[in-house]
Amino acid sequence: MQLPLFISPLFLFLGFLIFTLWIPDTFPLFLLSSMTTHTKGRSGVCVWPDVRQLCIGKSLLYGFMRLFSIPLKTLRGASRSLRVDQFCSVVNLSSSLLIELVPCLEDNYAYLLHDVDTGTVGVVDPSEAEPIIDALSKKDLNLTYILNTHHHHDHTGGNAVLKERYGAKVIGSEVDKERIPGIDIYLSDGDKWMFAGHEVHIIATPGHTQGHVSFYFPGSGAIFTGDALFSLSCGKLFEGTPQQMLSSLEKIMSLPDDTSIFCGHEYTLSNSKFALSIEPKNKELQSYAAHIAHLRNKGLPTVPTTLKLEKACNPFFRIWSTEIRQKLNIAVTADDAEALAVIQRAKDNF
Ligand SMILES: *[C@@H]1O[C@H](CO)[C@@H](O)[C@H](O)[C@H]1NC(C)=O
Ligand SMILES: *[C@@H]1O[C@H](CO)[C@@H](O)[C@H](O)[C@H]1NC(C)=O
Ligand SMILES: [Zn+2]
Repeated sequence: MQLPLFISPLFLFLGFLIFTLWIPDTFPLFLLSSMTTHTKGRSGVCVWPDVRQLCIGKSLLYGFMRLFSIPLKTLRGASRSLRVDQFCSVVNLSSSLLIELVPCLEDNYAYLLHDVDTGTVGVVDPSEAEPIIDALSKKDLNLTYILNTHHHHDHTGGNAVLKERYGAKVIGSEVDKERIPGIDIYLSDGDKWMFAGHEVHIIATPGHTQGHVSFYFPGSGAIFTGDALFSLSCGKLFEGTPQQMLSSLEKIMSLPDDTSIFCGHEYTLSNSKFALSIEPKNKELQSYAAHIAHLRNKGLPTVPTTLKLEKACNPFFRIWSTEIRQKLNIAVTADDAEALAVIQRAKDNF
């Protein structure tokens, strides 16, 4: 359907207006939908997504969504001639998922998942209940699901209180059914679970713990990696072997390059210092490190990162790098798992 020419700028303006009126308190708020061709295109062009740009771009899109969803009453009242359903086919509301980052404890991130269409809300890795309750109350939302990547207390500490308060169901790995507080639904590697119509792929990513899983939302191009993968590093090997961590990282690496990675901690700045120490000539890493320093200076999160960026900069995705191998004296004969173990040890002692 073609629209009269004047409509597009008008809607651009209205969308922006709604965005400025309704959205500012929700920073950082990310909209990911299966209609993310523009947002994906955008982050595909840059070497890394400028977080601010991403927020504004996506929030603007969110502004549009709100324009076409909640204010329908207003729109209908104002002008019955606007055929709203035509716009809905442009941005598929039923496939829309809002992801809001909620800082917890010292440097943890929990993530609220909000399916705008059904009002279903989930939280990934609530370290503590308070910040989650605050974030939910602000938007007058209840909690349907708690998703845990692994059993550590700084990822499950809020389970009991949130479950009690909202009657939320706790989802986690079958392997951790004895260790995740309040677990109701056990999932295993390769399972597909539905979150309000969004397919969620359960990817076992052991190494940090035996039962660690990552939650991949292919429709949104987003993965929640807990303590398996961080920006510029991976998790410590508390329960697993280097070989297990390597396989876990390889699974994540096989996802599309424009996948947004939402990890469990804001460790990126200190990780960047280690990464630079072992691969100082990596130009993309140099720019990304500068960018991170800038963001952290302003108190902004460095999450989400993208797979493309991590492949270019994260030493644990670059164990084949000649520069890294030379810096750490990794034998030419060493296989990838041995190399990963050496990089881990070097990082622990950094
Ligand atoms: C929107 O997406 C959902 C699944 O993601 C699909 O079932 C539905 O048919 C889509 N609607 C439109 C109008 O494309
Ligand atoms: C949340 O749950 C409470 C208690 O069950 C209910 O009164 C309230 O209407 C719910 N809010 C939403 C937005 O569903
Ligand atoms: Zn952990």
